[in-house]
Amino acid sequence: MNYTNDPVCIKDLEQIAKGAMPSGAWGYYDSGANDEQTKYDNMSAFDSYRLHPRMLRDVSTMSTETTVLGKKVRTPLGVAPCAMHKLAHSDGEAATSRAAAKNGSIMILSTYSTTSMEKVIAQGDGSTQYWMQLYVYQDRKVSEELVRRAEKAGFSALVLTVDAPMLGRRLVDARNKFNPPTHLRLENFMDPKVVNDANGYVPDLAWSASETFGATFGANGDQSLSWENGISWLKSITSLPIIVKGIMTAEDTQLAIAHGCAGVIVSNHGGRQLDGALATIDALPQVVEAAGDKIEVYMDGGVRRGSDIFKALALGARAIFVARPVLWGLAYKGEKGAYLALDLLQKELELAMMLSGTRDIAEIDESYVYQPANRWVRYAPGARHAAANQKKLLAKL
Ligand SMILES: Cc1cc2nc3c(=O)[nH]c(=O)nc-3n(C[C@H](O)[C@H](O)[C@H](O)COP(=O)(O)O)c2cc1C
Repeated sequence: MNYTNDPVCIKDLEQIAKGAMPSGAWGYYDSGANDEQTKYDNMSAFDSYRLHPRMLRDVSTMSTETTVLGKKVRTPLGVAPCAMHKLAHSDGEAATSRAAAKNGSIMILSTYSTTSMEKVIAQGDGSTQYWMQLYVYQDRKVSEELVRRAEKAGFSALVLTVDAPMLGRRLVDARNKFNPPTHLRLENFMDPKVVNDANGYVPDLAWSASETFGATFGANGDQSLSWENGISWLKSITSLPIIVKGIMTAEDTQLAIAHGCAGVIVSNHGGRQLDGALATIDALPQVVEAAGDKIEVYMDGGVRRGSDIFKALALGARAIFVARPVLWGLAYKGEKGAYLALDLLQKELELAMMLSGTRDIAEIDESYVYQPANRWVRYAPGARHAAANQKKLLAKL
């Protein structure tokens, strides 16, 4: 492929980033766990849902505006939390933050960002929603300190990632013996109250040249975390809404409701944790059904086209987050590239909406997706709906 022209879709950005990044950093961004079944399934599963467009609907005016946690947003497309944006570009998360603000997208900031949460949120325009992603550490004081800083800085929700009691085994990183470059810092751990070594590291949480990132991650995370000692504890120390990231089943959705969460993100960590787990678009309908109108449902994983966002909206997601596409954009051109990634997806979403005869997000429901009957239909209400419609139509012939 010739990239002397500007990239015109997310796949172009992926190829450019692959060529531009050092192999270790590229491997870290790209890799999934083990055989990467789930990483690839996340993307290919979208192909088994086809669109069911309506015509002659006057689509001369349309909008992607919606509400998330009761607040207006320009678009349901947001940025998923990703560690270490400075592996892609020296402007790191500050550039991503400006790109998200320009697109009107919610940004979820990773605990393991290479720019401090205060700097990241300061790039916003006052109307952008920033959510802070957390892990819970054996030393709860470290987690509590992060919560206090996020509250003070103006983050409007906490996203607790629950699918990573240990890091999944990413063979590419193991083969590359990947360790992030030592000039990068996990800046959220630079607070004077918790920093206790001369370089500005919290030694137990940061990496060192002799250890892999995964090993330090596992050594500090709280593997005894449960709904009670995790969610209930977090609720007891903050009044910010709590969103649980990594939910894949109806059962856990019901538990999230019972424990007072504000939302769940259907996510398998981009296939980086449990390889073999269901694709997120296939898990979404059962979560949506269990959630009813009690809790908001968001999703991430494998979204590479605006039509993927459309399909997830049709199956009941309120917001859709992307990770790797934004990192690829950053690697291509910093803030401009990250914005390009979001803008490409945004424009594709708008086009998919128009060509499907929908003018606003509320109109997009399961009647717009179709899963052909010979494919796996267990969790596809859209398929049932479409099949019933088809029967009615055939009966009229
Ligand atoms: C390089 C990389 C780093 C990530 N770091 C985090 C993280 O720190 N916290 C987290 O909750 N999820 C993390 N994720 C998972 C993403 O938030 C998201 O669930 C997933 O990547 C979405 O899939 P996509 O990359 O196909 O869009 C990371 C993903 C990638 C690719």
